[in-house]
Amino acid sequence: MSEKRVSFGGRMGVLLVAAGSAVGLGNIWRFPCELGQNGGGAFLLIYFICAIVIGMPIMLAEFSLGRMGQSNVVGALKNVSGSNKYKWIGYSGVLCAFLIMGFYGVVCGWTLEYVYQAVVFGFSSMTPTDLSTAFTAFSVQPVRPILWTILFLSINCAVVLLGVKNGIERSSKILMPMLLIIIIILGCRSLTLPGGMDGLKFLFKPDFSKVTSEVVLNAMGQAFFSLSLGMGCMTTYGSYIGKDINLGESVVQVTVLDSLVSLLAAIAIFPAVFSLGINPSAGPELAFITLPNVFNQIPGGYIWAILFFVLLSIAALTSTISLLEVITAFMSEEWKLSRKKAAIIGTATIISIAAFASLSLGDLSDWKIFGMSFFDLLDNVTARIIMPLTGLAISLFVAWKIEQTRLKDEITNQGTKKAAYFKAFVFILRYITPLAIIIVFINQLLSWF
Ligand code: TRP
Repeated sequence: MSEKRVSFGGRMGVLLVAAGSAVGLGNIWRFPCELGQNGGGAFLLIYFICAIVIGMPIMLAEFSLGRMGQSNVVGALKNVSGSNKYKWIGYSGVLCAFLIMGFYGVVCGWTLEYVYQAVVFGFSSMTPTDLSTAFTAFSVQPVRPILWTILFLSINCAVVLLGVKNGIERSSKILMPMLLIIIIILGCRSLTLPGGMDGLKFLFKPDFSKVTSEVVLNAMGQAFFSLSLGMGCMTTYGSYIGKDINLGESVVQVTVLDSLVSLLAAIAIFPAVFSLGINPSAGPELAFITLPNVFNQIPGGYIWAILFFVLLSIAALTSTISLLEVITAFMSEEWKLSRKKAAIIGTATIISIAAFASLSLGDLSDWKIFGMSFFDLLDNVTARIIMPLTGLAISLFVAWKIEQTRLKDEITNQGTKKAAYFKAFVFILRYITPLAIIIVFINQLLSWF
């Protein structure tokens, strides 16, 4: 099987596909939302520390594990360890893929509604309050958001069926740079709005009095989420990375690109939030109400709005593809289903979860679990619990259970690439990353008592 496995085409292909997975709604929708709810600047700083100290080593661990195991996340753990003892880590990853898709799929549906609205109505006659009311009115509807979600997830399923290589790799090459350009333009406009500087202060003047264990946990969760870590996504993708690719280099590139997009999204959103008097902790609707306001203030806003939401949908799609690929690779390789059956069964299951998540914002909003809607529960349980713990397990597995010479061979491509950082990497993965995750957890646990 190992010879036949498809691989992405070259360094650029790997970068774009992995960055395609990382860059998504997590950067443009979730990041600003978390930033707003966790007090701004200090969160930004802690987030970047988490991305570097926890995120990058785990991404390298996941890539190496996947490429070494040449299989889906469960299979990779089995192949590399030669035993069934560690398969549970992979199962928890696959479960996590379903749960993430359950709420992510809903937001993907919203992006399509906004493409539609941008084309048909434009947002130009709407005030900030109108936009906010319109968003809420839409998201609490029982049927319409679910239909968009079904459409989105069906497209997602179709692309995964086309094969990862042809569909995504080619489109990412044009679309990712376009997304960057648009966010930069929006950022420039947002910055020059009257009062926009308050937004920058909110972003770059850390107020450490607002830092609680909760804020740190959320920043760590966001790092896992945004870098697609802690559930076997990068392990699965790692199995498609050619043996000649420098894994360490790819990790740095993906992390830098992903962080850049998050930062740019925050710069596009917060100055506008302050200038227009929107509440920065507005929550999930933040990106959907703020940016249409910015489009209203730029010449050719109608076109920018369409372009932005189309690209946002596509950024979301390259992420959902990676999530569905975890499920598809797992079901087809472990359960011996055809890829087609696996992708379709996976998608149908996700649609059922997503339908409940969508309804939990409207008709089922009285239904609370631990005081949260089902939508928020899925988001919180995955980012704050399952991903950090699975990530912890993966890093402990890679750092302690794989022989160091074998790991070094994988990372240096059998000694053909330099990896001067190898010793530091193993040290960080063995001690620093686990300790950091555990401390954040214990702190959070203590704060509950
Ligand atoms: N990282 C993506 C985003 O920021 C979402 C995503 C894709 C993801 N694959 C993942 C999140 C795996 C967690 C785990 O939008």
